[in-house]
Amino acid sequence: MLHCAKALASRFFLFLASHSKIIITVLFSMKITLSPIIAGAMNWGVWSKNLTTTEMAALIHSCLEYGITTFDHADIYGGYTTEAEFGAAFKHSGIAREQMQLISKCGIQHVMGNRNNRIKHYDYSKEYIIKSTEGSLKNLQTDYLDVLLLHRPSPLMEPDEIAEAAEQLKADGKIKAFGVSNFTNSQTELIRSRTEVFCNQIEFSATAYQPMLDGSLDYMHLNNIRALAWSPIGCVFKTDTEQTQRLRTLLMELVVKYEVTADVILLAWILRHPAKIIPVTGSANSERLKNQMKAADVQLELEDWFAIWTESMGEKVP
Ligand SMILES: NC(=O)c1ccc[n+]([C@@H]2O[C@H](COP(=O)([O-])OP(=O)(O)OC[C@H]3O[C@@H](n4cnc5c(N)ncnc54)[C@H](OP(=O)(O)O)[C@@H]3O)[C@@H](O)[C@H]2O)c1
Repeated sequence: MLHCAKALASRFFLFLASHSKIIITVLFSMKITLSPIIAGAMNWGVWSKNLTTTEMAALIHSCLEYGITTFDHADIYGGYTTEAEFGAAFKHSGIAREQMQLISKCGIQHVMGNRNNRIKHYDYSKEYIIKSTEGSLKNLQTDYLDVLLLHRPSPLMEPDEIAEAAEQLKADGKIKAFGVSNFTNSQTELIRSRTEVFCNQIEFSATAYQPMLDGSLDYMHLNNIRALAWSPIGCVFKTDTEQTQRLRTLLMELVVKYEVTADVILLAWILRHPAKIIPVTGSANSERLKNQMKAADVQLELEDWFAIWTESMGEKVP
């Protein structure tokens, strides 16, 4: 009897030892819940909508009301100004920090008045990652980021140094999770060999569908790395080409069939992918954001999903 219990216990510990990385990853990933659609703040400030503090606070309130609790930032948005504007609006809103999740990014060094840079470049030294994150915390008027991302891969990045920065920021309670953006699978694997990578924020939409063909989404799915999609409605409303004309014609039919707007169909197209991608929407329009949350309830029929892809490619699947 005792022998049997001992054997069971030793098997259990062997299992724990061999699967510890997976278990820790799952437990850690479970700690962070992002909303089904993320609000990107790139267009909220001087780069586009130039919202006032009161307007931004109202938009944050509206997002929370609609169930959009995660906000995507980068230090560079608005030429290093939008984070601070959002921080002022967040303070003004009176919303409790735990009600939302904040993502920000670091690493892009622009040539700007208050930065002593001669040329645009990327900096992933340990000191810069930590300094930039602390700047984001100050600007956003928060003690921690839910997720910190490296904005774009640099050929000169040193994985050990990056891991040290990420681990220190986590140990100090300044970030809950660490991820990357615009990274290839091998670049992600390089960083992941030293520290956990929670997500990769990539360009993905019905018009930028390469990540579902080049293995990027399969790799993330396989390794439990969350895929976040920036510019999720693609160039459908931004450019007038044969591709976007074909797509808009099809969308006119689907709008009638599913009784939702075309942007909702495009978001539903992303959500239908098995990698459980989270779209990072760029709208700063309250009504549009409310409407876009309908995408989570739209289940595109298989052939409609393929019809969108077909019109985007301009040819049938092989
Ligand atoms: N990691 C990276 O390198 C990276 C790069 C780019 C962006 N991002 C993130 O991704 C977010 C989204 O990017 P994005 O702005 O390109 O996203 P998007 O959601 O694909 O585009 C949103 C823009 O399209 C406009 N729009 C025009 N007609 C529209 C229609 N019929 N339906 C819906 N939208 C329409 C919106 O205007 P309204 O505001 O009037 O709705 C908004 O300006 C950014 O805010 C940022 O957080 C990350």
